[in-house]
Amino acid sequence: MLLLPSQRLWVATLALTLAVVEIPVVLQKCIFDEVQAQTRVIRAAPVQPGDPSVKPEAGAQTGQSGKSRDRRSTLQRALSGRPRRSLRETPSSPQPIRIHSWRTQESSNLLQAERERLQAAVQEALTVASSVLSVNRALGPLLLSRDVNKYCKFVWRNSSTANYNRCGRANHNYQSETCLDVTIPDDHLAGCLIYPEADSPRSIELRPDGAGLPRTDFLLYLHVKTTHKCKVEPSVLAYATHCQTDGRGRPVAGVVVVCRDRLTAAAYSHQTAVQTVIHELFHALGFSRHLFHTWRACSSNATHFKAAQCSPRCKVTQSDATGQTRIYTPSVIWALQRHLVSSEPELGGPLENQDVPSGRASSHWESRTLQGSIMTATLGDPATVRVDAITLAALQDTGWYTVNLTRSQSLVWGQGEGSLFGSLSTCLNKSSAFFCTGRGSAKPTNTLRVVGFTES
Ligand SMILES: *[C@@H]1O[C@H](CO)[C@@H](O)[C@H](O)[C@H]1NC(C)=O
Ligand SMILES: *[C@@H]1O[C@H](CO)[C@@H](O)[C@H](O)[C@H]1NC(C)=O
Ligand SMILES: [Zn+2]
Repeated sequence: MLLLPSQRLWVATLALTLAVVEIPVVLQKCIFDEVQAQTRVIRAAPVQPGDPSVKPEAGAQTGQSGKSRDRRSTLQRALSGRPRRSLRETPSSPQPIRIHSWRTQESSNLLQAERERLQAAVQEALTVASSVLSVNRALGPLLLSRDVNKYCKFVWRNSSTANYNRCGRANHNYQSETCLDVTIPDDHLAGCLIYPEADSPRSIELRPDGAGLPRTDFLLYLHVKTTHKCKVEPSVLAYATHCQTDGRGRPVAGVVVVCRDRLTAAAYSHQTAVQTVIHELFHALGFSRHLFHTWRACSSNATHFKAAQCSPRCKVTQSDATGQTRIYTPSVIWALQRHLVSSEPELGGPLENQDVPSGRASSHWESRTLQGSIMTATLGDPATVRVDAITLAALQDTGWYTVNLTRSQSLVWGQGEGSLFGSLSTCLNKSSAFFCTGRGSAKPTNTLRVVGFTES
């Protein structure tokens, strides 16, 4: 929505008036990239695009290099030996995502006040997520995969034998699957078989299939604890990671760690907690530099979704002429063009470069351009934070979700300011009313300026 000139003037005037009034607030900082880098993600074997006969899920697979990943996915296809109901998708149209939150054992002894705050915040965040994101729902319960590299000590390698690529020996030290210190209950996990002889169908069940989680598209483990990271990062309320992806690359499980002492802090804010959970959840669902390379381009023929064809996106992020890394996907470009009112065809969504090694993408928007977006690295005053169209466009461009853009909240920061808004050159020219006023700092510092935002 465009502001009328008089409204624009009003916002600008408000900005100039209030720019000098800096209100110190505790900003919620996000350490997602650091946390995700430490997570060992289990990936299901890839599904061939457009081949409905291929079971989308073939068991656990982890791998860093493309080569070993290919080998392991073949391995896993053979290992899985039993039909997995979990990830076969219904051919119907996308439906609101069903996110199941599950509090870990270690988080079960919360005080009532803590539990109530947590529940209220998570419930509201999940409601927001499922109101904006839809997925092709899986048939049957969600069953997570086990990591073959953990439970198996030895794999049959002779391709002329019946059990080629199947696990021959169990790792007797195998205990359980974990993700970010969370132990995944056996009940959520698929089982695994061992084939002691190379050529015999005889198998031993090392672990049986769990029951899985019915009516679940994404499983969110909630871990409430005062962890080491909580202690060293006092501005962190929660942090997250994704744990597993399905055959199409979509994350199906993640962990959000909520720093326990923040729940009872005097400064606790329900709104801030809700926004923090939404923010971390969006990372786990795909807004992540660890997943950009797996985003898929899908034909958006919603009425014939069965026939939707998806292919890997060649390049999601790239550096622009000034060295800023941007997301160049169609919906993101379209949404940013609309927001800044620009027809610049190369208007990719700029990613944060502060505290990010050069040449490396961040999992947050550049705050000079998109301050107030739910996906900037620090969330300020909750009254200014928006689940904005550019963020939803990015989730749409993952290829895993259909988003309802009419539910996005309008971002006033930068609205209608043109393609150069937020670039350092305009800052030096002091041509923007939104920032670079005051002391000419290009970035919001650790204080929040109450400027440029109105209620949508
Ligand atoms: C592979 O298995 C076949 C059939 O059991 C056997 O004849 C062959 O010698 C094996 N090859 C190797 C390299 O062990
Ligand atoms: C999108 O959201 C709007 C507003 O809440 C709603 O009226 C509409 O039915 C939704 N569209 C879809 C496809 O769900
Ligand atoms: Zn973040």
